[in-house]
Amino acid sequence: MAAKTKIKSIGILTSGGDCPGLNAAIRAVAKSAMHYGIKSIGILDGFRGLVENRTIPLGDMEVSGILTRGGTILGTSRDKPRKMKMGDKKMDMTDVALANAAKMQIDCLVCLGGNGTQKNALHLQEAGDLNVLTLPKTIDNDVARTDISFGFDTAMSIATEAIDRLHTTATSHHRIMVCELMGHDAGWLALGAGIAGGADVILIPEIPYDLNIVAEHLINRRHSGKRFSIIAVAEGTKSKEEIADLKGGKKKGKSADQNAKKNIPEESRVNIIARQLQEMTGIEARVTSLGHVQRGGVPSSTDRLLCTRLGTRAGQLLSEGTCNVMVSVRGPKCSPVPLKDVAGIKKIVPIDHPWIATARYVETCLGDEL
Ligand code: F6P
Repeated sequence: MAAKTKIKSIGILTSGGDCPGLNAAIRAVAKSAMHYGIKSIGILDGFRGLVENRTIPLGDMEVSGILTRGGTILGTSRDKPRKMKMGDKKMDMTDVALANAAKMQIDCLVCLGGNGTQKNALHLQEAGDLNVLTLPKTIDNDVARTDISFGFDTAMSIATEAIDRLHTTATSHHRIMVCELMGHDAGWLALGAGIAGGADVILIPEIPYDLNIVAEHLINRRHSGKRFSIIAVAEGTKSKEEIADLKGGKKKGKSADQNAKKNIPEESRVNIIARQLQEMTGIEARVTSLGHVQRGGVPSSTDRLLCTRLGTRAGQLLSEGTCNVMVSVRGPKCSPVPLKDVAGIKKIVPIDHPWIATARYVETCLGDEL
């Protein structure tokens, strides 16, 4: 984990989907590096900026006043050094990225990002002996070996507020409101916001759902005098039938392309769920998709604090010459974990996670049992 040379200069980049807290983390890394006499430069638009040699200085003035700003002052992209679109072609730009890192005279590349970023950073470390250090960023909270990733708390607050707002309109119209939340293949965001917002049904990828069970739950609610229901659906969720089909190797039906060719509009999962539940229960249903709203705006105080803790710990580790690690959250501490133990592993919600039991105790239906 120790760097071969003393770290005197670092390059910082942000990669993958943006989220609130990136600027707070950039500021914390750069300020704490400065504290230890380490110079920072900013690399623009993720790994693409490294390949295209696009940088900005990151001195005291540049990182001043950015703590509360959403997005990333460095810009971001989902580009991978190993397979980057250059003109019409996808090319392996690893050597160019490594050569540019050398030209920039950086002793360590600090990468702020989610699962894809952890993999790309490890790839550069292994391919060129480049020192790297990463921080866990994602609203999905699915980075392994850390209690939490920054961006998650803010996204969960936004989603919770949206569910709160859906409650008032759902109550007034006595409707079912189906709300789609982000999270990729993990249910953390939908489960967390669903519990915090008091959703009556929460569907997550880790628990395949049965729509008959959901419909029965909604009908039972109506019979007990509750005339509205809120359903939080994580974007990666699948039904029991789909999982069985996938396991059995059956085709999932027609692909989006096939449908488009036949001019059949492809219906989103939340629309299908709402339409089918309306038919099954006789209760009017509406759909809301929160989308990128969940990643926008200013970071919460919890995320600002987390980013500042992670970023300053990164500066401290760099000053000690510790590299090739991700700075992770373990209870009250921020500790380094080898990057190779993080990259390529997704942290999904374990089926015995206390949040799942918590949801069931307050009579939230998770789509698998009443
Ligand atoms: O990983 C963060 C995330 O917001 C996921 O929850 C979502 O599936 C994806 O990014 C959306 O990506 P994009 O911004 O590229 O559409």
